[in-house]
Amino acid sequence: MNKQIAIFASGSGSNAKHLMQHFAEHKMFHVTAVFTNKTEAGVVSIAQEHRIPCFHFDNKAFQTGEKVLAKLQDLKIDYIVLAGFLRKIPTNIIQAYSDKIINIHPSLLPKHGGQNMYGKRVHEAVLASGDQESGITIHLVNEEYDKGRIIAQHHCPVLPSTTLEELMQSVQALEHQYYKLAIEKFMLHV
Ligand code: GRF
Repeated sequence: MNKQIAIFASGSGSNAKHLMQHFAEHKMFHVTAVFTNKTEAGVVSIAQEHRIPCFHFDNKAFQTGEKVLAKLQDLKIDYIVLAGFLRKIPTNIIQAYSDKIINIHPSLLPKHGGQNMYGKRVHEAVLASGDQESGITIHLVNEEYDKGRIIAQHHCPVLPSTTLEELMQSVQALEHQYYKLAIEKFMLHV
């Protein structure tokens, strides 16, 4: 079994970096390509450092998904891993990669998910809600934002004194520790 992973990212790429490092020497799984809709995204230089080809597409072309799907198939990609990718995945890609697209969300879904819930907004919502814990959710992607089957969740406490900065750091530490492991475990058991 030798599986090819494509990472989709449009942000700083800190999660993508951890995934590239983790799978760099892996015997069964390889990060074969990075796909981004932002040429200036941090993930582009991270991919270069790891000598992983990076493919850019524009948001308009992505709406139909055709070109991106053709490229994914051309590269024989088995799994798509989203790491800070905010655009909706077109239906044809979701159908071609049914149960093979994985996302990470920085809260304990179903809480604080959905369209436009990303970045700081998620953590602000957690603090405003008075929740005593937050964390990360790793889930499969379907046609609704943040509604696919949950693969793994990891928790961190939220105290009355927890600041936004502290919460963001705790959640990011969980992301960097667990995303790669959850992906690996999932791919090994399907
Ligand atoms: C992470 O918080 C992840 O949970 C969310 O997007 C963010 C990406 O951050 N899906 P980074 O670009 O990997 O630092």
